[in-house]
Amino acid sequence: MSVIARMDRVVNDFALRCRWFREPLSKGRARMFALQHRLNTRQRNSVLKLKVAANCTDWDTRMRIIEACSEEVIADHAHGGGRPHWKILEELGVRIGLKRAEIEKARPLASTELCWAAWEGLMANRHWLEGIVANTCAERVNVPGYGKGEFRKRGWFGVERARWGRLFDLRDDELEFFELHTEADIEHSNTGWRAVEKFARELRMEDAAVAACERNLHVWEHYLNGIAEAGDDKRR
Ligand SMILES: [Fe+2]
Ligand SMILES: [Fe+2]
Repeated sequence: MSVIARMDRVVNDFALRCRWFREPLSKGRARMFALQHRLNTRQRNSVLKLKVAANCTDWDTRMRIIEACSEEVIADHAHGGGRPHWKILEELGVRIGLKRAEIEKARPLASTELCWAAWEGLMANRHWLEGIVANTCAERVNVPGYGKGEFRKRGWFGVERARWGRLFDLRDDELEFFELHTEADIEHSNTGWRAVEKFARELRMEDAAVAACERNLHVWEHYLNGIAEAGDDKRR
């Protein structure tokens, strides 16, 4: 089996097992997601993924990593009308009833902080090829073809778009955060998948790339399930 097919199998397993995908969305979970994911996107794209770029020896790949980070945290002219993704998520947060000040003041959950520490270990002092798998493996589930049913047909954010729309009665244009990601994340995750296709064999890192994919998605599972748990907690 090719290294890409093996990574696809790992992503598929993540799509099938993670509780966040299998359990229904609630208003509490959605609001907690907006609060945490805005922070998470900023941390990953202004800190963690740039460490991978700094370690990357292939110039074109390095530039593509920085471009993707820039769309997430500075400005996305291709899919986001010149706004960064975290800002678009902030607007969605306001639409589902969060106050702007509450969003700006949000702190990471303990589970989120634990994930940042884990990703630091999996991204900062690693070979860049393992790092680029870490950068892109979760964006991969936004590309249709993994999991089953609606998830397989529309990708993760395709599913979120539909269920956030139903839960909060939002129009299509109000759900642009999810909409833009299908396209943006095909490009973003292709950067990782292509690098592995091109370099894993000559670097003898096929097993390492698959293992990186597995480990990083376990962290993502912890991150999302942490949000679910906090979103269900009535004390919050
Ligand atoms: Fe994004
Ligand atoms: Fe992305």
